[in-house]
Amino acid sequence: MPTGNMQYSKHRGASHERPPTAMPDTLTRDNLRDHVVRELSDGSATRAEILLVEVNGVRAAVKDYRSRDRRYRATIGRWLISREAAMYEYLNGVPGIPAFYHRIDRYALAVEYIEGKNCSQCAPGELGPEFFDALREIVAALHARGVAHCDLKKDTNIIVDDHGRPHVIDLAAALRRHGGPLPMRPLMCWLWPRFAKDDIKAISKLKRKLAPELLTAEQRRALEHRTRAERLLKLIMRTARRIIKLLATKGEDARKARA
Ligand SMILES: Nc1ncnc2c1ncn2[C@@H]1O[C@H](COP(=O)(O)OP(=O)(O)OP(=O)(O)O)[C@@H](O)[C@H]1O
Ligand SMILES: [Mg+2]
Repeated sequence: MPTGNMQYSKHRGASHERPPTAMPDTLTRDNLRDHVVRELSDGSATRAEILLVEVNGVRAAVKDYRSRDRRYRATIGRWLISREAAMYEYLNGVPGIPAFYHRIDRYALAVEYIEGKNCSQCAPGELGPEFFDALREIVAALHARGVAHCDLKKDTNIIVDDHGRPHVIDLAAALRRHGGPLPMRPLMCWLWPRFAKDDIKAISKLKRKLAPELLTAEQRRALEHRTRAERLLKLIMRTARRIIKLLATKGEDARKARA
């Protein structure tokens, strides 16, 4: 896999010009199934279905909660789609983040499809230093815009395109430094830099898995040592996931009981 020039900030390369900023909005809930090329992920009770669709030659990845439990999709699913859509919209134009196309309805959104594979499908030795430098650049660009990704440790959220370049997806958990309700702002101001640091650590974690020889002594030390703040963040994220899962399971149980 070529790992040539990955300086996103300089240029994206002829084959990586920005795609059309809007996919034809003829893609609607009613005709979505007619445009499906294939399923990228069938999700789970709590995770959306991800579809690769094509409209007039433009490909998009569609994240869709429509087929999840009715109560779950009407609450958590809808909330997750709306915050992810807002985050994609806010970051539109940031190199390495798929372009936002549009929201199909309350439960689904469409973004630029990145031809390639996610990092969980990569083998050790496959990614070189240019890849990790470019990934660091994307994360720095997010942070410069006041956004912490918060879910980069999941290697399915990092895509390697067919030219060996990284792209960051799945902004559902992302947090804005100055966002959120007013009473939560002081807490967010304290938490945000820690989440941002965690994003950086996620890159080292991926390096340790796929290219450990590229880790610096400092990165190794940081990976071995988990601070109290990191433990707290982990607890917050795990609790949030458990609550979401519990709500989904309850919804599913209620549905089965009714059937
Ligand atoms: N824009 C995209 N371009 C290419 N592939 C994508 C895109 N969006 C999603 N995918 C594929 O679908 C997978 C899941 O997407 P995403 O992370 O958004 O959903 P998820 O519900 O969080 O799933 P997971 O828990 O596996 O991360 C990705 O790992 C990737 O393989
Ligand atoms: Mg994901």
